[in-house]
Amino acid sequence: MSDVLLEVTGLQTGYGDLTVVRDVSLTVRAGEITVLLGRNGAGKTTTLRAITGLNKVTAGSVSYLGQALTDAAHKRVAKGISYVQEGKKVFRELTIEQNLLLGGFSRGLGKRALASSVEEIYQLFPILGTKRALHAASMSGGQQQMLAIGQALMAKPQLLILDEPSQGLAPVIVKEVMERVHELKSTGLGILLVEQAVQESVAIADEVSVIEMGRTTLAGAAAEVSMGDLQKAYFGG
Ligand SMILES: Nc1ncnc2c1ncn2[C@@H]1O[C@H](COP(=O)(O)OP(=O)(O)OP(=O)(O)O)[C@@H](O)[C@H]1O
Ligand SMILES: [Mg+2]
Repeated sequence: MSDVLLEVTGLQTGYGDLTVVRDVSLTVRAGEITVLLGRNGAGKTTTLRAITGLNKVTAGSVSYLGQALTDAAHKRVAKGISYVQEGKKVFRELTIEQNLLLGGFSRGLGKRALASSVEEIYQLFPILGTKRALHAASMSGGQQQMLAIGQALMAKPQLLILDEPSQGLAPVIVKEVMERVHELKSTGLGILLVEQAVQESVAIADEVSVIEMGRTTLAGAAAEVSMGDLQKAYFGG
């Protein structure tokens, strides 16, 4: 079994005095994908916000590489946690390459190191290399999503967190985005993927976790979870 990157146990979090996540647990291992599912408003994004330091953990724990995560959000990026937020937009008037370079800013690298990081992203997503000098606005929705992921990868994460990368994409493009995400596993990256595209995301997942009304209702190995189990977990048994 690979190394545990992220361990969330009994997480409680919300907005100010409002608790919306009451009891969420999940694990992400290096080189694996954990998919986090649940209906609209179940608390998926809120969970991600607590993991990345945008919302306060009010009970339970979030640990990364065996240590409690308590740093400010920007320090978590420096620790290797990159987050592509729901509905993330790229800078449409900048070129693909400029968008990627922006993603590397947080690392404070020199020009050469940045350039070589950009080349690595082009290896992962060849379409971005082909179109590097074009405005991001010229790309399709699926390609823009890959660019957003590429931008996050420029920070050289160990843990990549993606909130609904398939949102608003046509089914055939959803499949392609999932394939690209699946390929990223081979780099040793651990991925926490929030999705509404249940079948497509479970197909690439190692672990599945379902939230219903702020509580984990199912968690386990993707290979052992049936569609029936998922349906029950979704609708609270
Ligand atoms: N900024 C906020 N202030 C107060 N309540 C919020 C805020 N953002 C979300 N909520 C509430 O928290 C609950 C969980 O929302 P969250 O965005 O985590 O759901 P989600 O599972 O990501 O849903 P979706 O699939 O629609 O993205 C919802 O009831 C929502 O109304
Ligand atoms: Mg959400």
